[in-house]
Amino acid sequence: MKINDHAPIARYIADEQRYESMPYRRCGNSGLSLPVLSLGLWHNFGQYDSFANARHILREGFDIGITHFDLANNYGPPYGAAEETLGRIMAHDLASYRDELIISTKAGYDMWPGPYGVGGSRKYLVSSLNQSLKRMNLDYVDIFYHHTPDPDTPLEETISALDMLVRQGKALYVGLSNYSPEQTRQALDIFNQLGTPCLIHQARYSMFDRHVEEGLLDTLGQAGVGMIAFSPLSQGLLTEKYLNGIPQGSRADNQRSYLDASLVERYQPKIQALADIANQRGQSLAQMALAWLLVDERVSSVLIGASSSGQLRENVAAVNCLAFSDAEKEQILKILDKE
Ligand SMILES: NC(=O)c1ccc[n+]([C@@H]2O[C@H](COP(=O)([O-])OP(=O)(O)OC[C@H]3O[C@@H](n4cnc5c(N)ncnc54)[C@H](OP(=O)(O)O)[C@@H]3O)[C@@H](O)[C@H]2O)c1
Repeated sequence: MKINDHAPIARYIADEQRYESMPYRRCGNSGLSLPVLSLGLWHNFGQYDSFANARHILREGFDIGITHFDLANNYGPPYGAAEETLGRIMAHDLASYRDELIISTKAGYDMWPGPYGVGGSRKYLVSSLNQSLKRMNLDYVDIFYHHTPDPDTPLEETISALDMLVRQGKALYVGLSNYSPEQTRQALDIFNQLGTPCLIHQARYSMFDRHVEEGLLDTLGQAGVGMIAFSPLSQGLLTEKYLNGIPQGSRADNQRSYLDASLVERYQPKIQALADIANQRGQSLAQMALAWLLVDERVSSVLIGASSSGQLRENVAAVNCLAFSDAEKEQILKILDKE
C-alpha cells in the first residue's frame, strides 16, 4: 500500500444527506436497526489489495447510508489484514463517526497455530476479540459472532464466553453464524438462561442457495432473532459479469476465492433467464437478486461484497425497486426450482 493512498478524499456529502435513501430495518426483536444492505470485508480489504480502493469502497458505502461493516478475525489475506485496513480507514476518515457505525467481527475458524487459535473455547473467543479490537483500534465491537459451530466444545462454554464479552463491554451484541436450526435453538436456550439475547444469525442466502428457507428462517422469526444474509450474489454469479465467460481478475478467475469456475457454466442458463426478468423490471440482475432476499421481513439486512465503488453504487440502487408482482415471483421461482 502506497503512502499517497492516504491523501484526503475530496467528496464528502453533507451529513444529513447520508441517511436519505437507505431503508433501515429492525434486527429481530432488538432495538437495533440495520441498513437493508450492509458491507462485508471478506475480500478486497487485505494486505495485497489497493488501500485506496478499499478506502473508496468503505467511504462511498458510508456516504450512501451503509452504517454496518462486517469483518472476521481471519479476513485478509493474510488473516487479520481486513481488520487492520478497517482500523486505518477509521483513523483517517471515520473515527468521529464511530457512534453512527455498526462494526462486527467473528471468531471460530482457524486463526493462529495451536489448540487455542480455532474453535469455540472461552480461551480462543476472548483472546481473538482482544486481538481484533487492537487491529481495528476500537474499544468495542457492536456485534461479535461465533463464526461456525464447534462440535468439540460444549455449547455452554461458547455461549457463556459471548455472554461474558457483552458484560465486559467488549461487544454490545452477539450473534451466531453457520449454525443449523437445531444448533441455533440449543444456543438460544442457553442465551436466554444467561440473560443475554442473541441479536442476529449470519447465514449464506441467495437465489442460488435457499437452504435457510428449510427451517432456519422460521426458527429465527419465532425467536425474534434477526437474520443477515451473506454471499447474496453467490459471489458474483448473480450479476451480469459472467454472462460472456469469466473476466480476468474476477472471483471465478481468482485462486483465492471459493467461487468454483465450473459453477459459471452450470448456472449460465439460469443467470441469463434471471437477467432477462431483471431487465424487464428496469434493474440489473445484481439489484434484483438483492431485492429478492429482502421480500422476507425476517431478513434484517443483506451483506454484500464489492471490488469497486461502482459495484457498490449499482448494488445499493436495488433499494429503488424492492417489490415483486405475483407474476414476477412465479416466473422467478420457476427458474430457480428448475433442475
Ligand atoms: N459468516 C460467514 O461464514 C461468511 C462467509 C462468507 C461471507 N461472509 C460475509 O458476507 C460478505 C459478503 O459475501 P460475498 O463477498 O461473498 O458477497 P457477494 O455479494 O455474493 O459477492 C461479492 C462479489 O460479487 C461481485 N459483485 C458484487 N457486485 C457486483 C456487481 N454489481 N457487478 C458485478 N459483480 C459484482 C464482486 O466480485 P469480483 O471480485 O469478481 O468483482 C464482489 O466481490 C463478506 O464480505 C463477509 O462479510 C460471511
